[in-house]
Amino acid sequence: MAKNPADPPRSSPLDPADWSAFRREARALLDQSIDRLEHAGDGPVWQPMPDRVQASLAIPSPVEPTPVERLRHELVESILPYATGNTHPRFWGWVHGTGTAGGMLAEMASAAINANCGGRNHGAIELERIVVGWACSWFGLPASAGGLLVSGSSMANLYGIAIARHHKAGHDIRAKGNAGVPLVAYASKEGHLSVSKAFELIGLGREALRTIPTDAGLRMDLTALKTAIAADRSAGRKPFCVIASAGTVNSGVFDDLAGLADLCAAEGLWLHVDGAFGAMVALAPELAPLVAGIERADSITFDYHKWLHVPYDAGCILVRDQALQIDVFGGRPDYLAASGGLASGEPWPSDLGIELSRSFRALKVWWTLREQGTRRLGEAIARNCAQARLLESLLRCHDIIEIAAPVSLNIVCCRYRPPGLDDAALDDLNARIVVAIQESGVAVPSTCRIAGRLCIRVCITNHRSRDDDFALLIDAILSAGKRAFSQITAA
Ligand SMILES: Cc1ncc(COP(=O)(O)O)c(C=O)c1O
Repeated sequence: MAKNPADPPRSSPLDPADWSAFRREARALLDQSIDRLEHAGDGPVWQPMPDRVQASLAIPSPVEPTPVERLRHELVESILPYATGNTHPRFWGWVHGTGTAGGMLAEMASAAINANCGGRNHGAIELERIVVGWACSWFGLPASAGGLLVSGSSMANLYGIAIARHHKAGHDIRAKGNAGVPLVAYASKEGHLSVSKAFELIGLGREALRTIPTDAGLRMDLTALKTAIAADRSAGRKPFCVIASAGTVNSGVFDDLAGLADLCAAEGLWLHVDGAFGAMVALAPELAPLVAGIERADSITFDYHKWLHVPYDAGCILVRDQALQIDVFGGRPDYLAASGGLASGEPWPSDLGIELSRSFRALKVWWTLREQGTRRLGEAIARNCAQARLLESLLRCHDIIEIAAPVSLNIVCCRYRPPGLDDAALDDLNARIVVAIQESGVAVPSTCRIAGRLCIRVCITNHRSRDDDFALLIDAILSAGKRAFSQITAA
């Protein structure tokens, strides 16, 4: 057809009117983003967003366009300085990954492709299959295994538990729901919050998740577990799953996965392993024995965005027999059916999970794994564990600080403990110390409770931390502790 001279030039009003000007802005932003990572240790780890900045951002929903240059300035001036801080070498709060410069590039390219990874036959889906296959090989899963990239371990735990329920319930869960069957499952008291949330969400309720006590090393007590299973069976309930931890969130403890695999095999239960960050020790030869037995799990949760430093978000659920996952989520209506062409390529990721539209997480995962290689990533994990041991030994030089839990991995939980204060006052004191250190911008530890007592928790999943960063942390604990002690005793 002949071109109509009245047709507008081939550009969309939503694309840049001047691509050269856009390129200049984009390059400037890329440079600013790279600067940020190159100098990740400059400035405070964290600072709260001031009221005036909040107010400047809180405009009514924009009706008219804003030039990209102005947006870039706002981003750099008003948003980037008020980040969580997990790219900084002294961020050790909760369990955060540090990110990488390469991951940032992959994120940018992913937006350029703008793939919808719910399904169909395109390269992004192929890449997801490849990275999931790599993960299966890390854990020694058989050829039948598969999985899905998800937002994070909370979602992966939900998937693992839902798949377990489907296969152990003994009736068609998809058609009938729980149908009043008293299904129960087991996790240690150190299990992650997302596990109990999953039970709330799948309609079994939190009480269907039995809390098993731990031994002195904070590992699930297998004798207590056996007793609980027997008690549930004799009360007419139906045990279906054990949720093991490979790296508990409080202190990085590993349940006895091989022992649990034996027990689950003997009892006919599904073994789900929550290895959100801890399972990644599989990539560090000297630490890999901690996950011995994981190869016998029915499903495994882990994150790429924590200890592998892929930019948020990127988690994964692996299932020993992918066909079981398809049983739970598979099936598509006519408009999504595959009859060749772009709609082909079975199974679609949407047959493995609940989402139909999904982002291209696999690109940043693939990029990070190819750019870094698992050897270097494993070495960074091992270095963090060595730093945790170093920090423990440095803290032990100060009588006023006690180590609150065994340092078995990368997490150090400690308590500033001046004489003359009761436990409640010490809880208050340690909470104040953590807030004061965060507010000072020197470092970001967080808190947790061990045996009911509030502790300063330092979780080292940070490839930028250097050994001397921990000396700064100790100085900060001692000086914040002194100040908080005077405040509490003066009050
Ligand atoms: C053991 C464990 N499980 C699950 C989660 C939840 O992971 P996410 O934040 O990726 O949802 C965490 C988070 O720290 C965790 O440590």
